[in-house]
Amino acid sequence: MPVASAFDRVAWIYDFVMDGILGHYEKTARIVWAALGAPVQPLLLDMGGGTGGVSAHLIRRGARVVLLELAPSLLRRCPPGVVPLLGDGCRLPLADASVDGALVVLTLHHMADPDRALEERARVVRPGGVVVVIEKAPPAAGDVRGRVVHWAEQLLFGPLRCVPPAQLQARLEAVGFAPKHLFRFGYVIRARRLPVAAGHRGPVGVTQGGEEGDRARRAA
Ligand SMILES: C[S@@+](CC[C@H](N)C(=O)[O-])C[C@H]1O[C@@H](n2cnc3c(N)ncnc32)[C@H](O)[C@@H]1O
Repeated sequence: MPVASAFDRVAWIYDFVMDGILGHYEKTARIVWAALGAPVQPLLLDMGGGTGGVSAHLIRRGARVVLLELAPSLLRRCPPGVVPLLGDGCRLPLADASVDGALVVLTLHHMADPDRALEERARVVRPGGVVVVIEKAPPAAGDVRGRVVHWAEQLLFGPLRCVPPAQLQARLEAVGFAPKHLFRFGYVIRARRLPVAAGHRGPVGVTQGGEEGDRARRAA
């Protein structure tokens, strides 16, 4: 089943599980806001933002938020104040360098083409802007609970493409960001777009090396 239909099917219970049971929204918004550096009234893109629970808490902190989502039934539940956009994170209907920052919360591993989504994010975040990625690490071999949850999630939502943090950091560097791995829980990566990013867009998956890479990293 395509991922959008799978999430549409659980829209009625989504907030209850994510917030009522897991207490996800406020807790996650706090982490995202701190990782963004508590900016003043930023314009943010919430990519794959679901029902907008995290976005709502960012708006309370002064952000303006455009939420892009593939599943219409989730998007319809977005709270007032969030600008809802139906679409695919691999083809963002936004201009180059048009947002101050972007968040991608528990979404990348559901995307059919996470590399393309990274390139799109690199395109729309302005130089100096920040991307915050909160992701699920691939379950370790001995992590039985993690493997069962992973298997159940695949049954519900289709194939998951979990990327280890080091690999995601290398991909972010390749599209012109200076990433920092912040936590070990699942993982959170904060990546500032480098000033030279326009001329710094190597192919995804290849870390920028040599003198140019060193200069860019020093400038971050
Ligand atoms: C686990 S949910 C997380 C939602 C939200 N970020 C949150 O923290 O509550 C994953 C979301 O990614 C969305 N998604 C998956 N692939 C997508 C794509 N290609 N473009 C946009 N959204 C996508 C799904 O529809 C779903 O809402």
